Amino acid sequence: MFTSSQSSALPGLGSAAPEFTCESTHGDVTLRSGPPGSWTLLLSHPADHTPVCTTELGSAARLHDEFAARNVGILALSVDSLMDHVKWQTDIEEIYDTRVTFPILSDVDRRIATRFGLIHRFESQDMMVRAAIIIDPEFRIRLVQVYPISVGRSFEELLRVIDALQMADKHGIVTPADWYPGDKVVIRPEMPDAEAEKRYPNGFTRVRDYFRTTKID
Ligand code: BEZ
Repeated sequence: MFTSSQSSALPGLGSAAPEFTCESTHGDVTLRSGPPGSWTLLLSHPADHTPVCTTELGSAARLHDEFAARNVGILALSVDSLMDHVKWQTDIEEIYDTRVTFPILSDVDRRIATRFGLIHRFESQDMMVRAAIIIDPEFRIRLVQVYPISVGRSFEELLRVIDALQMADKHGIVTPADWYPGDKVVIRPEMPDAEAEKRYPNGFTRVRDYFRTTKID
């Protein structure tokens, strides 16, 4: 007998992000509440007033300027009540000596959890997994990162992925393993040499026929 492992599927990369309206610590929010042209980082967490989630939202809050510099708005999310969110936000701000400037959404009826496939019943029947979903300015899903309840996420890695996605969109390149801004990037294998020479003024290094690198200033 087939048993589904989650209440509905995680959205596929490139698909349109499911729409929602949800109450939050900043009033009702939708995916379109941010400024036009902005990116969204939707961060689900299992439960308020729990240690690992506290560290995660503390990290996200402390990196606020880094996310803002990349034009990314954060929406945090759990199934807890708005009153729980408000009390917990005070804890996070005290513990990490920071301000939580992004909304924390109260998905008590699990509408968002269901639309984004964030309750994985073999992990928990009633808490969301730790998902980080990056949504671009055209409201397309660009990253779905799912961590188990037992493992806190790396917010530095999320910044790195945002940098890589924005670099790929702007310059038509792809980024190699462990890439950080300033490192060499990879020219798409299907791009002819003549086009690469025009597009990338720093030229390129041919590592193999299918593998060319270049530097973007
Ligand atoms: C935590 O974030 O610390 C946590 C959340 C759910 C269950 C156990 C721990």
